[in-house]
Amino acid sequence: MPITFISDKNLFKLDAAGATYVLSVTKGGYLLGLYWGGAIPDANFGGYAFRDYASSFSPSNPEVTEGGFSPDTAPLEFSGFGTGDFRKSAVSIRNADGNDATDFRYTGHRISRGKGAPAGMPATFAEDPADCETLEIDLADRTTGAELTLFYTVFEDLPVVTRYARLKNASQKAMDIEKISSASVQFAAMDFDFIHLYGRWGAERNWVRSPLAHGHQSISSARGSSSHYHNPFAALARCGADEDRGEVYGFNLVYSGSFDITADVDYYETTRLNMGINPEGFLWHLEPGEVFDTPEAVLVYSKEGLGGMSRAFHRLYLDHLIRGKYRREVRPLLINSWEAAYFDFDTDKLVSFAERAKEIGIDMLVMDDGWFSRRNDDRSSLGDWWVNEDKLPGGLGVLIDRVNALGLKFGIWYEPEMISPDSDIYRAHPDWCLHVPDRPNSIARHQYVIDMSRQDVRDNIWEQMNAVLSKYKIDYVKWDFNRNLTEAGSALLSAPHGEEIFHRFVLGTYELMGRLVDTYPDLLLENCSGGGGRFDPGMLYFSPQIWASDNTDAIERLAIQFGTSLCYPASTMGAHVSMSRRTGFETKGNVAMWGTFGYELDPNRLTEKDLGIVKKQVADYHKYYELIHYGDLYRITDPWDNAFRCAWEFVSQDKNEALFTHVTMRYYHCPTLIVRFKGLDPNFTYTLESTGEKYSGAFLMNAGLNLSLYPRGTGESFVLHFVKEN
Ligand code: GLA
Repeated sequence: MPITFISDKNLFKLDAAGATYVLSVTKGGYLLGLYWGGAIPDANFGGYAFRDYASSFSPSNPEVTEGGFSPDTAPLEFSGFGTGDFRKSAVSIRNADGNDATDFRYTGHRISRGKGAPAGMPATFAEDPADCETLEIDLADRTTGAELTLFYTVFEDLPVVTRYARLKNASQKAMDIEKISSASVQFAAMDFDFIHLYGRWGAERNWVRSPLAHGHQSISSARGSSSHYHNPFAALARCGADEDRGEVYGFNLVYSGSFDITADVDYYETTRLNMGINPEGFLWHLEPGEVFDTPEAVLVYSKEGLGGMSRAFHRLYLDHLIRGKYRREVRPLLINSWEAAYFDFDTDKLVSFAERAKEIGIDMLVMDDGWFSRRNDDRSSLGDWWVNEDKLPGGLGVLIDRVNALGLKFGIWYEPEMISPDSDIYRAHPDWCLHVPDRPNSIARHQYVIDMSRQDVRDNIWEQMNAVLSKYKIDYVKWDFNRNLTEAGSALLSAPHGEEIFHRFVLGTYELMGRLVDTYPDLLLENCSGGGGRFDPGMLYFSPQIWASDNTDAIERLAIQFGTSLCYPASTMGAHVSMSRRTGFETKGNVAMWGTFGYELDPNRLTEKDLGIVKKQVADYHKYYELIHYGDLYRITDPWDNAFRCAWEFVSQDKNEALFTHVTMRYYHCPTLIVRFKGLDPNFTYTLESTGEKYSGAFLMNAGLNLSLYPRGTGESFVLHFVKEN
């Protein structure tokens, strides 16, 4: 059993896949986060990390005077605000008397097989309850009557703990939640580097690493979406830990809205990391008896550096987060019309793309933005989801029939959460967008944001989408989201519920996305937000893939995909070969192969030479699908540490096969290029497919190969495929 309660020590022990997480309950009922790290088989944690210390400036609680206990110096697992712990609290509640002090103490616990999920939100799951076990710990604040339940799930074969919290107003008076974390984690140390992913449009998820210092270090989004700017991911890497070695703690929030991850290093060199919904723009009103659930947080422990952390996240998401048919089934290889035509297309042009695509071996044509209402540029029509018959004469049926007749599937673009001021729907319902009274709405990309908190608005959008999806054979939807939330108010939400809008917006999006995938289980959904502006596990629960960036330049993509891979598996990264100029088609294909792979170009413009390369890529897509989509990723050379080259490798789970890719970003003169491969079985003999040469796994990993004769000019790349000898 991965979770045990050792009653004589009042200790909870969560053990899985080489990691141990320990909680204890003190005499007065404080819940302490004692330890999280490498596996410890025994339960002798006497006194660990708990400095029984009270002083003038670290008050003690009169009920728990024994040993001079102070909440300020104890590793409180989920600290309330205002009752003696001055570090960043995990929860803060304004009660009916107008103060926000709480002091949560243990009242009980349960351990059970399987796991649940926070209400209305995506979460990891276990199809077989035997895969995981859940601990629920109840805490209560006697004065306010607030009750907390902390949920911890341990997946037996992964070094992962997932967490969320549930707060209940068990009092007779209303209260407001000012802040509530999904997880708060204690470390009896500060010798960590803080790693996170920052970015911007066209350059998402750059990898930054800096030493933790006294004080607070945070990343956050207050945009109403997880955003291009900070991803809801952070890691604490023990100083000296690298890609392959050392302790790394990874954190990722299963949430697509405003978030905050803060590491708080205190005066005694301990670290607390809180993660959850961003308290800025959040205030949740709870009437007596009402309950609030936080989003789920995923916590990963790795002893094998950042690479081990990434592989644990990837495996968890592949097996326990991504749902639906295309989690395991081979996805159709697609060509998207956006960079090929932008808004300038008609039925014949799209069919001409499909005809050429068919010759190449592509499986699906995706019609991007511009097919509806009067949408000939980005200035109008969002929200009017009826077909533009000037562009598509006879309607979608004619186009789809012609595409299907060629043997291709068909996909379509939507941006359901947006509304153009120049649209019929906005003219009829100006109160259907987010807005606040007496304040002009900010505009971005000529559009406003729909009030997704409203059931009637969601129903209208759903009816429009469903009218199209139920009538035609549509195999794929690209769901876009091209601006952030401003003037976030709803015509239907007033005080005391006004500040709930940011979170209610996200819940509304989840509800609508859930309707889509539940009604059309065979549909392949791809999320997108101006490229990768909403690349988070919340979205991955609904769509197995997310468009990683609008930047399709193969060299720029290396950094984007490297950063994304820190947390998210290759099968989730939307990556296409485009007409971008910097490299040849080989390299474009080799880079896009580290992702979903597809095309975003006019196939009629391909030269005969490029056509030959593209046909080989299509064959490779099928050949390496399983290896890339379900194999383990090993990063070899990263584009931040090395300005010249970038390399990575996929190894099948049984270690029978490996695929290595090397891209030269800038030519450099050097007679040797020794690459030591990773993740192979030292006792296997591998054949390098292209040459027939045979090497032991031990040789490839310890000595490596000198690859200096492979293509190494600027923008050139090569791929090596190793197969175990039978
Ligand atoms: C966003 C997406 C693009 C494309 C356009 C259409 O920018 O990221 O891929 O779909 O919208 O307007």
